[in-house]
Amino acid sequence: MSSYSWIERSLATIHKANWYRQVQPLAGRSGAQVSLQGTPVLNFASNDYLGLAGDERLIEAAVAATRESGSGSTGSRLLSGHRPLHRDLEMAIARLKQTEDAIVFSSGYLANLGTISALVGPRDGIFADAYNHSSLRQGSRLSGAMVQEYPHGDMVALRQQLQQQRSQVRRALIVTDGVFSMDGDLCPLPQLLELAEEYEAMLLVDDAHGTGVLGSRGAGTVDHFDCGDRPLIQMGTLSKALGSLGGYVAASASVIDYLRNRAPTWIYTTGLSPADTAAAKAAIAIVEAEPQRRQQLWTHQTYLKQRLSSILSQKSQAKIGPLLPSNSPILCIQLADAAQAVNLGASLREAGVFLSAVRPPTVPTSRLRITLMATHEREHLDRLCESLASLAA
Ligand SMILES: Cc1ncc(COP(=O)(O)O)c(C=O)c1O
Repeated sequence: MSSYSWIERSLATIHKANWYRQVQPLAGRSGAQVSLQGTPVLNFASNDYLGLAGDERLIEAAVAATRESGSGSTGSRLLSGHRPLHRDLEMAIARLKQTEDAIVFSSGYLANLGTISALVGPRDGIFADAYNHSSLRQGSRLSGAMVQEYPHGDMVALRQQLQQQRSQVRRALIVTDGVFSMDGDLCPLPQLLELAEEYEAMLLVDDAHGTGVLGSRGAGTVDHFDCGDRPLIQMGTLSKALGSLGGYVAASASVIDYLRNRAPTWIYTTGLSPADTAAAKAAIAIVEAEPQRRQQLWTHQTYLKQRLSSILSQKSQAKIGPLLPSNSPILCIQLADAAQAVNLGASLREAGVFLSAVRPPTVPTSRLRITLMATHEREHLDRLCESLASLAA
């Protein structure tokens, strides 16, 4: 028996449980309609909430930066990989987030790994929402801190945990998604801030899905709750509403300065490419200048939420549902099991609708995940609803 034969057995188990995953080859520019394996489909699977990944201005900015600085940044930021463009982007993020400073990582995942493991270590404690994104979970494990999960959004449970355990650890860090990526609901930020202040804990909010989308300025979850003047650390990604690639942390000048000296996933990795950096900077300028994109997204969200709720509440449609609570452009429909998710996802695709069928272990229960874009049209939403209604009947 080869020492690798367990892999075949493991893959067979994954198939049997309907947990097998594979890539979905899309062609053409990112947008509300894409070509999936040669067939045109409506795209409800993208995190490109503002429709910027295919925007000419981001593409032009990326091309110009590539021509000027080359295709790669060729080294770590602290050695040969720093360009003035990186700093321009960091200043733009800090301006959007209204923080003293910001730091850009090569991805959001790396931002979470590096930040959490720089802030806490084996003598410390992390208090984490049970539905947190994988990067927060892995960052927490990597740090070596004691990790205590609280049930999703449960502030009574978090208070109890802090009461019992805060005195046993040197530093405490509360970590949470701002917008929960596989559910679409928001963290209770004001209550989290109160608990963090009461128990002398740091608070890290992952705003991957809030940035560009939430708040009157599009600055994210903190903007939405109007909590910008409170002490906390915000991280996020450049790869969703900002249509590029990379991650960031926005916080006080001292937190950012500390991360530049202590976050291994920033120090020991190559700086963001000029193209990604310039595209993200162009996207932030658009978020600031074009609030109508955000307004369009929210108009779509209100319309679709209302139509889906009505479809799923009809008794004859009881085969799928309900719609999970959402305050974001992520709308999820609860399903019975992984097999139903796979089958419905495939049937919708045949009907020309592309969305994500999300299954364990990504989430505890299977669901259809629909994501909206500002560049969808009302007719796209109607077609999605009609396809769902006929499949659920
Ligand atoms: C909540 C959350 N945090 C972090 C990340 C990681 O961001 P990135 O794709 O930039 O690595 C994601 C993206 O998948 C996410 O959904």
